[in-house]
Amino acid sequence: MHNSEATFGARPPEPGELQPGDLHSRPSGAGGDPGGSEFVVVANRLPVDKVVDADGNVTWKRSPGGLVTALEPILRKHKGGWVGWSGAAESDSEEAEVDGISIRSVPLSAEEIAEYYEGFSNATLWPLYHDVIVKPEYHREWWNAYVEINRRFAEATSKAAAHGAIVWVQDYQLQLVPKMLRMLRPDLRIGFFLHIPFPPVELFMQLPWRTEIIEGLLGADLIGFHLPGGAQNFLYLARRLAGQATSKGTVGVRSRFGVVQVGFQTVRVGAFPISIDSGDLDTQSKSKDIRSRAREIRKELGNPKTILLGVDRLDYTKGIDVRLRALSELLDEGRIDPHDIVMIQLATPSRERVESYVRMRAGIEQLVGNINGQYGEVGHPVVEYLNRSVPRNDLLAYYVVADVMLVTPLRDGMNLVAKEYVACRSDLGGALVLSEFTGAAAELRTAYQANPYDLDGVKDAIVAAIEQTQAEGKRRMRALRRQVLTHDVEKWAKSFLDTLTSTTETTSSANRGVQLVSSGGSDDTDRGDENS
Ligand code: ADP
Ligand code: G6P
Repeated sequence: MHNSEATFGARPPEPGELQPGDLHSRPSGAGGDPGGSEFVVVANRLPVDKVVDADGNVTWKRSPGGLVTALEPILRKHKGGWVGWSGAAESDSEEAEVDGISIRSVPLSAEEIAEYYEGFSNATLWPLYHDVIVKPEYHREWWNAYVEINRRFAEATSKAAAHGAIVWVQDYQLQLVPKMLRMLRPDLRIGFFLHIPFPPVELFMQLPWRTEIIEGLLGADLIGFHLPGGAQNFLYLARRLAGQATSKGTVGVRSRFGVVQVGFQTVRVGAFPISIDSGDLDTQSKSKDIRSRAREIRKELGNPKTILLGVDRLDYTKGIDVRLRALSELLDEGRIDPHDIVMIQLATPSRERVESYVRMRAGIEQLVGNINGQYGEVGHPVVEYLNRSVPRNDLLAYYVVADVMLVTPLRDGMNLVAKEYVACRSDLGGALVLSEFTGAAAELRTAYQANPYDLDGVKDAIVAAIEQTQAEGKRRMRALRRQVLTHDVEKWAKSFLDTLTSTTETTSSANRGVQLVSSGGSDDTDRGDENS
């Protein structure tokens, strides 16, 4: 049986270095660089990836994923620093100013990338937190690397933050950072936000290091989830796991109304559904350039009656296979005519060295090949598949031209693509097919929602979206846009940061007992259950 206490640290700590201990230890003399930032975002990824060409020239390119999409505009508005990894194997830390954001990189070696990032983060936690769609792997070396790298992030953040600064730690890769950072810098206000679902208790209990993760998170002053269901799962686990006896005695944990009391420390827990810079997207998508690019795309595709669109990181959680299977069956059954439709699938490469991703990509490309082989014409495939990231302006033009947007994840914390599509449809055109198992489904009620495990249901939703009348489409899109345009990412960040900096004990009056969301939710978002 694995002994979690013994393996918490990967190596003996150096003198004066952060050590794992109980939740209450507070080294005296909190630091803080006088030149440090008052507001620091800490995420595994920097907002930009470092690209070094053959001549050694360095350029930075936008990093993939929804976390960066959401936080980049926030950091532009609220000047501060960003601590994260550059996306490449490196041995030294680097500081730079990129697009008005001051970034500080945390170096990772090739071995650390394999064990901490590809291993524990993306082959243990990612599948475990996404309903075990693929089987999570549990390896002690990966865990040791995770502890080690979380320690490195905590130490880098400690150097970057001014005295009394607000530090906002992001996502599943850094769940030990809140506790480690609190031990280094008790002067800081620490928030943590999880961008992916927090799993049902029965699944989380598989994790050999479940207690350490819960205790790591409880180092924060405020812990945010997308949905009330995730917050409830966490509160239950905090009571059940964090109150256990440790080598330093028993830690008392009580939880009520979205507040966990850990000894003398108060930790607030709430649901804060993330969003996008919807106003900006709305404006940009109305520009002449984007509109004419949209028309051009339709023409290039041979002016089909219906354009279906999928936009995702190439990830098995996204259900790209689900929509391809649905399309294939609809064609087989003659419910849609291959001459009338084109499906565009934009797929950003992701985590390409993780085995489950390699297998999934092969499966998807085979499905695309089968459909095109059977139903395409020379020069006119049914599925246009791009395995790359497209420039932002092109992406907006694809949203503007798509008659039906297909968002079919088997599980997704939020799914920003669904909200981006809606924000780009000021013409009230288009239709959104949306999986029930996305966080976005709790807000986007007038989408054509479907259970991605029920292929017939997905097919019916696609056909209903294709065949909707103009009036019905407008009615649905108007309601979707009302939600997305009134609940933007600025509101999300404000709601989280106001709660973090307020001195009242509850998460906010709107968020008491984690029944309701404090930002972004529609009127009855308490339906959003991450346990389902
Ligand atoms: P995740 O965070 O799991 O990747 P989200 O849907 O929440 O999923 O966010 C994905 C982000 O990445 C969105 O902002 C979307 O526009 C962007 N994106 C996804 N695929 C592409 C692509 N092929 N080209 C450009 N941007 C993409
Ligand atoms: C999701 C995760 C982020 C992650 C992003 C891209 O949005 O919540 O934490 O950064 O995917 O994944 P990657 O592994 O490329 O950073």
